[in-house]
Amino acid sequence: MKDLEVQEQPVPFMVFAHWLHEHTSKSRSNYTGACVLSTVGMDGYPNARNVSIKLLEYPYLIFGTPINSLKSIEIKASKKVALTFWWEESMRQIRIQGIASELDEETADFVFEKRNKGSQVVSLISEQGANLPSWEILQERYRVMFNELKDERIERPEHWKGFKVEPIRYEFMEFRKTRLHYRRVFHKKKDGWEMKMIQP
Ligand SMILES: Cc1cc2nc3c(=O)[nH]c(=O)nc-3n(C[C@H](O)[C@H](O)[C@H](O)COP(=O)(O)O)c2cc1C
Repeated sequence: MKDLEVQEQPVPFMVFAHWLHEHTSKSRSNYTGACVLSTVGMDGYPNARNVSIKLLEYPYLIFGTPINSLKSIEIKASKKVALTFWWEESMRQIRIQGIASELDEETADFVFEKRNKGSQVVSLISEQGANLPSWEILQERYRVMFNELKDERIERPEHWKGFKVEPIRYEFMEFRKTRLHYRRVFHKKKDGWEMKMIQP
């Protein structure tokens, strides 16, 4: 009898990490970790905006954000989120659904350290999503604070943290000019990942 041929299934996290690495090396963008984060809004509407994935720590995809932002409030109410990536240079789309949970202090510090000075200063002077009575006052606060801290190490403010997303479903799509796109879906089961191909 012919030996049974066992074909290892790829672990989707590794496929994601590999595709992200290829994208980062090909792309001229400064925001290669950018993706659309969709949350369930408090009014039941989906709510979507870009965030930047700053760290991969198996099995998590990690981004930073103020803990009192709208997205954070929505995640506290429903931990089910989606992340959507489109990388034109490699003609690839990745869709992820998963469960988000708040970062611990140490990881939040690490992610904050990776932010550039301007972003760090904004985290200090701006309450993301709150009403803004005067653009000029905010601009002036930014200017003053930036000059004051430009050569200093900025500590992460307490309200700035972030989330780690543990995927339960991945879809990898190789976009083809013919529109005969190649789609693979990975679904997390108790004993591993189930993989299937789906039609374009
Ligand atoms: C490319 C790109 C990357 C972004 N990355 C982040 C991020 O990592 N964290 C964040 O809080 N906001 C990020 N933003 C801003 C968000 O899209 C959004 O405006 C902000 O977080 C407020 O969203 P919310 O009111 O739904 O909480 C990014 C925007 C863009 C265009």
